[in-house]
Amino acid sequence: MVIKKICCIGAGYVGGPTCSMIAYKCPDIQVTVCDRNDERIDQWNSHKLPIYEPGLDDIVKECRGRNLFFTTDMDPAIKEADLIFISVNTPTKTFGVGKGRAADLKFVESCARKIASVANGPKIVVEKSTVPVRSAESIINILKANTRPGVEFQVLSNPEFLSEGTAINDLTNPDRVLIGGETTPEGARAIEELCWVYSHWINRDRIITTNTWSSELSKLTANAFLAQRISSINAISMVCEATGADITEVAKAIGTDSRIGPKFLQASVGFGGSCFQKDLLNLVYISECLNLSEVAAYWQQVIDMNEYQKSRFAGKVVERLFNTITDKRIAMFGFAFKKNTGDTRESPAIYVSKYLLEEGAKLHIYDPKVEEKQIFFDLVTMMPTEDPEGVKELVKVHSDAYSAAKDAHAIVICTEWDEFTTLDYQKIYDSMLKPAFLFDGRKICDHEALVKIGFHVETIGKRVSRSPLLRVMA
Ligand code: UDX
Ligand code: ADP
Repeated sequence: MVIKKICCIGAGYVGGPTCSMIAYKCPDIQVTVCDRNDERIDQWNSHKLPIYEPGLDDIVKECRGRNLFFTTDMDPAIKEADLIFISVNTPTKTFGVGKGRAADLKFVESCARKIASVANGPKIVVEKSTVPVRSAESIINILKANTRPGVEFQVLSNPEFLSEGTAINDLTNPDRVLIGGETTPEGARAIEELCWVYSHWINRDRIITTNTWSSELSKLTANAFLAQRISSINAISMVCEATGADITEVAKAIGTDSRIGPKFLQASVGFGGSCFQKDLLNLVYISECLNLSEVAAYWQQVIDMNEYQKSRFAGKVVERLFNTITDKRIAMFGFAFKKNTGDTRESPAIYVSKYLLEEGAKLHIYDPKVEEKQIFFDLVTMMPTEDPEGVKELVKVHSDAYSAAKDAHAIVICTEWDEFTTLDYQKIYDSMLKPAFLFDGRKICDHEALVKIGFHVETIGKRVSRSPLLRVMA
């Protein structure tokens, strides 16, 4: 079989960019991305894509209508396709067995059932969504139970390692592509077909092939290791604050050790995003199910440390503002879980907002890419007992940082957007109530310069010298 047509089920943060890149790099392959959400598909077909990802617009513009199509009409796309990616969401279960920890695979299963019922020829089905180890088994079982003459399935695991905000670069120059499949001649052939697709632009020595379960577990493990580095550096940031060491200097000193390396050592208010917490919870749950309670406890600690870092940061805001923020205006700079994305899933900003709102603050939020309706959706969802109208009275979303900070007691930086480093902080300071506080949860500002202006600055992993103005007041 030579892959001529690809179908992708799920037009989200994974399916959309990945398949756009495949269409871009493989003009000889027709790629159809399907989703059951009409609004999402309409957006993919419009000039304003449903996700913000630097560089994605140009790629979609070049390929859409040529060999890249977005549709809700799934059946014909599945029928025509030689290879089908399953790129649907796998959220943490909110009910039943494994509630709050296990991945909910109902969307993956419904895709498998859909493919089984519609397929009229041989298909390679590729699990791209992050799933717990041995999830492919359920896909394989559903599909194999529906094997008919001429309709055979091979199931591969091909986890995505792209990181939001740098997805286009990650897809163009991946550290590796990982493909897992059955250790049978048919499995090997299917792996080879998918290798051929990627080899349009990726050297074969960067394509790693494994058995299905190793591939699934590698994705969870990669995310768990990355998250663990952040929790480790955040743990040390607390020691820095208590001792006078500076976490940036410590991170640099240890990162130059080639065995440790410099990446993912940026202490912060905590990690967010759709993957880290979900995958860690998943790993913990799987370990418990396998009676590996020590393993579960080990990885659980990475999540616990992250929770602690978020609450510690939010708690510091309240404490420094003289232990009361009731009716105080607080400007929040950044709401996305990291810069260069409009995604807010598990964003530390949501947690910090909740904490501050529960303490009675009035929040004035500005994020360059997160839409107002998303901010309200996240806050209302996070505070389910609050009347949505009540939340709206306490929160105002701004279209620039200056208006968010006007008349505020404090600025809280939750996302490391570049534009926050070049703001006119003198102008901002002049427009704020005094004493003016700035809590830099991302360590992106020039703290000494802010102190000179008159700000009282708090950050992560470093004691900032106190503002002379505040010293006089004290
Ligand atoms: C992650 C993985 O990096 C990616 O390989 C996988 O496919 C999906 O999950 P993503 O969640 O998009 O990607 O972003 P990432 O850059 O990993 O950041 C995750 C969170 O960690 C963000 O909130 C980020 O701000 C935070 N972070 C990252 C830190 O706090 N410090 C760091 O040093 C790095
Ligand atoms: P990810 O970050 O994993 O890509 P997203 O939530 O951004 O997750 O995207 C997943 C997409 O999958 C959503 O647009 C959702 O509508 C779509 N989806 C979920 N289940 C199905 C299904 N059974 N058929 C088609 N699309 C689906």
